[in-house]
Amino acid sequence: MSTKQESLQHIAVIMDGNGRWAQKRGLPRAAGHKKGAETVKEIAKAANERGVRFLTLYAFSTENWQRPKDEVKTLMDLLRQYLKSDLVELHKHGIRIRFIGERYMLDKDIVESMEQLEQNTADNKGMTLILAISYGSRQEIVAAVRKVAAMVKKGDISESDVDIDLVSDMLYTKDVPDPDILIRTSGEQRISNYLLWQLAYAELFFTKTLWPDFTPNELGEIIDNFYLRERRYGKV
Ligand code: IPE
Ligand code: IPE
Ligand code: MG
Repeated sequence: MSTKQESLQHIAVIMDGNGRWAQKRGLPRAAGHKKGAETVKEIAKAANERGVRFLTLYAFSTENWQRPKDEVKTLMDLLRQYLKSDLVELHKHGIRIRFIGERYMLDKDIVESMEQLEQNTADNKGMTLILAISYGSRQEIVAAVRKVAAMVKKGDISESDVDIDLVSDMLYTKDVPDPDILIRTSGEQRISNYLLWQLAYAELFFTKTLWPDFTPNELGEIIDNFYLRERRYGKV
């Protein structure tokens, strides 16, 4: 039992279904995003209390930039607000906060708030909450390949030095263990350009629950179920 407990370090989540949650209630999609943002806080606190070390939440993908302008604006305004209030509250719970994704796509004030939160929470001893914002896994891998190519070209390393560890070190998640669990809410069963490299051996959980309705209780059920699964990593 104890060794199994130790084997759960990192949970990754694709928070999906905000729009449908709002639609079901005859509300604008923005209302779903707002409720979804509250769920982030509840789930982060619950995961921290359960001793999870890393929680990585997919909040905005590189592809989400292609949504209608007003929805992107709503999401960015929510994020702005969130960085200033809710995440500061998580800081009080001892949670470390980090961001992964293409920052150059984001407004300058947002990036500044992100950097400030990362700095202010860097010494916290609780769970690390990683928010994937303007994140795309293929883009992340392409950037890693470019870095490796530059190193080889410069002569810092040779081609045969390129291995799994080196590639992992070029990713945003370089100092983070791979996710043990991937959860996607809202009934969709796809990865949508999320942590493609890192999820190599994650246990996958799909729930029909829409993200704004996802509860600490359901998270607990998934964690309990995870401990019943046998991870073989290709062995017998
Ligand atoms: C997830 O909810 C949040 C983001 C992708 C920003 P959606 O906005 O994708 O909600 P649905 O899938 O349309 O219900
Ligand atoms: C994935 O959800 C991205 C986030 C949850 C941030 P989407 O709703 O954008 O994904 P697709 O379009 O269903 O693949
Ligand atoms: Mg969606």
